[in-house]
Amino acid sequence: MSNPIQVGPDDSPAIPSDALVLFGATGDLAYKKIFPALQSMTLRRGLNIPIIGVATSKLTVAELQARVRESVRASQPNVTDAEFDKLAALLRYVDGDYKEAQTFQKLHAELGAAKRPIHYLAIPPGLFPTVIAGLEQSGCAANARIIVEKPFGRDVASAHSLNQVVHKVFGEPDVFRIDHYLGKEAVQNLIFFRFGNTFLEPIWNRHYVKSVQITMAESFGIGDRGRLYEDTGAIRDVIQNHLLQVVGFLAMEPPAITYSDAMRTEQVKVFRMIRPLDEDSLVRGQYRGYRRENRVAPDSNVETYAAVRLFIDSWRWEGVPFFIRAGKCLPCSVTEVLVELKRPPIVKFFPNHGNYVRFRLSPQVTIGIGARVKQSGDGWNGSTVELSAFKPRECDEMEPYERLIGDAIDGEGILFTREDAVMAAWHIVQPVLNLQSRPIDYEQGSWGPREADELVRDFGGWHSPE
Ligand code: BG6
Repeated sequence: MSNPIQVGPDDSPAIPSDALVLFGATGDLAYKKIFPALQSMTLRRGLNIPIIGVATSKLTVAELQARVRESVRASQPNVTDAEFDKLAALLRYVDGDYKEAQTFQKLHAELGAAKRPIHYLAIPPGLFPTVIAGLEQSGCAANARIIVEKPFGRDVASAHSLNQVVHKVFGEPDVFRIDHYLGKEAVQNLIFFRFGNTFLEPIWNRHYVKSVQITMAESFGIGDRGRLYEDTGAIRDVIQNHLLQVVGFLAMEPPAITYSDAMRTEQVKVFRMIRPLDEDSLVRGQYRGYRRENRVAPDSNVETYAAVRLFIDSWRWEGVPFFIRAGKCLPCSVTEVLVELKRPPIVKFFPNHGNYVRFRLSPQVTIGIGARVKQSGDGWNGSTVELSAFKPRECDEMEPYERLIGDAIDGEGILFTREDAVMAAWHIVQPVLNLQSRPIDYEQGSWGPREADELVRDFGGWHSPE
């Protein structure tokens, strides 16, 4: 993404990376997201740097190419053989155990004359220390960048030690922590819409906003991710990262336009002003049948649903509750934000109020403004109409991974989570991470436990998108 913010005198232009190393080249993430993104990058921006896959799968380069071809076909059936050949020509493969020095020596040889490589750790976080040490000892980390995947730690302490491991070898400007929500058009549009429209600014504060609701509903369960999910749960999986990023974009102050990292700085300020959660501001749920899923403990207390109430102790937002609700096996797959405005003073005219701004973030992008109009007829009765704009998906729209990997290769960090933001976000959820209590059961296909209604009782209940 070209940086919307002017580059200031302290920002020297970044030198793009000249080789991409992919640890976990035969893994699921590489198959589903990374290779399709790299294919698009060869077509859209002429990506033309060596891509060195590293894995322990004992493949030949030809076998890796075949796997990549399959992955590209699955997501982009229209890619021609000639187009795929552009990507295939960039692929190299290093096979070996991450614990062995020899693996990294082979990688070093494969990197050849590359001066600014970027290493993508698409591997379980438990392997990060081993791989980072291997990179350092072999000289592969010299002048290099690193991309790490979510989850970045699982609480304050582990995120802190992970940062230490990374920083022993890589400086913060060379660390790119992926949260794919930051690569989404619809999420970036939140900032654009807020700061690009004069009419919004005067009302975007505690004087006019009554509450904010963010719902991330998914109609499916955990599928084959049982083992991972058992170690995660809804709070770690999507609230600590994706949904707090959305809160940050909704609540941040306008970034200063004189230096490039301003947006991330404003984001962190919001996180630091959010009060840490407590049990009174949380309802945890678990869909019926979760305990029988593959690789899930029969007595698991992991939440597949969480509803929370946040407060941001800032000048702009003091007293305005931000409600977040996220869950699996809910009635539909929709992510939506509803910013409800306070009602005008004449209660008689406006008993049931309906002024709001609605942002649908997925599956499609819609922005709606709820307004009150008089109903036809004798009485002074009103109803709410929505002025809405649907932003159709453009056929060649970039997927988040394409945008993010491209930015990382270019050394452009604004869409990546900075160390201070990761830590601040963990601090918000830390007090409720290790609750041993049984989450409340809810039926699959329902909107989760009824107990969550209590959180929003004084705010008109949950807004449930369709
Ligand atoms: C991932 C979570 O980070 O985000 C998943 O691990 C979740 O559990 C997914 O389903 C949602 O992302 P998206 O882009 O499909 O809305």
